[in-house]
Amino acid sequence: MHNAALAALGLNWRYLAFPVPPDQLREALAGAAAMRFVGVNLTVPHKRLALDMMDQLDESARAWGAVNTVRFEGQRADGTWQPIGQWTEPEEPARVRMHGFNTDADALLQALAEDLQWQPRGRSVLLLGAGGAGRVAALKLAASGVARLYLVNRTLDKARAVAEEIRTRYPECQVTLDYPHEPVDLLLNATSLGLRPQDPLPLDTARFPLRLAAAVYDMIYRPAETPLLQAARAAGQPAANGLSMLLYQGTRALEIWTGQPAPVAVMRRALMEHLHVA
Ligand SMILES: NC(=O)c1ccc[n+]([C@@H]2O[C@H](COP(=O)([O-])OP(=O)(O)OC[C@H]3O[C@@H](n4cnc5c(N)ncnc54)[C@H](OP(=O)(O)O)[C@@H]3O)[C@@H](O)[C@H]2O)c1
Repeated sequence: MHNAALAALGLNWRYLAFPVPPDQLREALAGAAAMRFVGVNLTVPHKRLALDMMDQLDESARAWGAVNTVRFEGQRADGTWQPIGQWTEPEEPARVRMHGFNTDADALLQALAEDLQWQPRGRSVLLLGAGGAGRVAALKLAASGVARLYLVNRTLDKARAVAEEIRTRYPECQVTLDYPHEPVDLLLNATSLGLRPQDPLPLDTARFPLRLAAAVYDMIYRPAETPLLQAARAAGQPAANGLSMLLYQGTRALEIWTGQPAPVAVMRRALMEHLHVA
């Protein structure tokens, strides 16, 4: 989606994937800065590790404790900083710094609003998963006014740590470490169950029947329809996969690097072609 966007914007940049061992993330980032990269995206497990490696943290990265977008910035002669992707000075920057952002959390809410016409304030959510994506989703939902959050995760300690963080930072959100005994406004899957065809459903339907969820969002985007989404749609429930979330974390990252509006339709088309045909 980024390369399609770069072509549409007429930018002679490339978006490439580099597998980096976690214990060499610092060197990889320093190398990217030295090579005057415009920016990078980070994925699991680098998002949390990168937090301590940034020279500057945007509020989004600070709030959610994870960096998925790095913007490299050069220092001008007067000491101020300008993104490398928007560099207008005649001289090359003498120094480069790393500025960390997180675009995942906002992307989730944008996707929920667009795909399911879902708004968080005063709502109840059953959130499955307390890994990297589940943790950020839980914090963002609590920060956005969700009234009741039910957290379920295979490893209870991880869910417990997320619940503690919410109770400290967003005490007005009521957190329960269990399935609800009542209907919820949203069931959100942030586990990786559903990525493989043989995976079981990510929820225990004996404890929480799917029909008790008013809407279902699965962060998984490939396959386009997980067994969870299939079941929800068969029952006539509003349901959406994680494609829009993936799209919007990408559009926001591109805007951070370029300073220009992202060509959203071009990026969505590229994603659909690439993910769902592959
Ligand atoms: N749409 C998007 O833009 C987007 C963005 C980020 C992530 N995602 C998707 O969200 C999912 C989670 O990603 P992540 O970054 O949070 O990964 P992660 O940090 O590795 O977390 C994985 C989560 O899945 C749970 N899980 C894994 N295998 C399981 C199993 N066999 N039974 C029960 N639970 C299991 C883990 O439980 P434990 O804690 O017990 O291990 C944990 O809660 C992935 O499917 C990823 O593709 C989508």
